[in-house]
Amino acid sequence: MPAAAGRPVARDRDAVQGVRDKAMIEVRQADSRDTDLVAALLAAQLSEHGLAPDLEQVRRGLEVALQIGAPLLVATEGSRGVGACLVNRIASVEHGGVVLFIEELYVVPGARRRGVARALLGRLLAEADSSGVRAIELEVDEGHKPARSLYRSLGFEANTRTPWVLDLRRSERD
Ligand SMILES: CC(C)(COP(=O)(O)OP(=O)(O)OC[C@H]1O[C@@H](n2cnc3c(N)ncnc32)[C@H](O)[C@@H]1OP(=O)(O)O)[C@@H](O)C(=O)NCCC(=O)NCCS
Repeated sequence: MPAAAGRPVARDRDAVQGVRDKAMIEVRQADSRDTDLVAALLAAQLSEHGLAPDLEQVRRGLEVALQIGAPLLVATEGSRGVGACLVNRIASVEHGGVVLFIEELYVVPGARRRGVARALLGRLLAEADSSGVRAIELEVDEGHKPARSLYRSLGFEANTRTPWVLDLRRSERD
């Protein structure tokens, strides 16, 4: 329908721009050639969460992810990395099969609210569903509104469990 026939021109332009923005984002499984790009993204994620990232440690973590075939998705726009998602597989008796745990999800500030996280998670959910995964788990920091709202919009629900950790390598780092 032409804009003159009823819809305001500005809204048409917004819609066209939105389609262009989304069309430029590509999501794919990362491989070893993406290690530097994804390491930079996930180091930025740790910084945003108030942790001092050790880039070598982030790289080692990604090397393990690639070795064990963990889902590791990267979103690119041209040659630029704009988002990443690192996921682990868990054997679950509670769910009776494979459960995925979203370890990291990050979108660079300049690319937010353009559907990058939705595209990363959409790909993850589609692949999980088609490969028989039973559930997807994750943790969200207290009060982290964008992430809560993102996950809620995709059907995730909060549970009453509290994450615990025993850091076996803390003394080596301190
Ligand atoms: C949370 C984060 C991944 C969202 O990425 P994004 O690409 O901007 O998200 P999308 O554009 O795909 O948004 C999808 C939906 O999430 C919700 N959402 C995203 N950002 C939001 C914000 N700032 N405020 C409220 N809702 C938000 C909305 O429901 C949005 O849908 P809509 O745009 O149609 O309203 C991104 O802000 C980020 O990387 N933050 C820092 C790292 C982080 O918190 N990671 C999650 C760890 S659990």
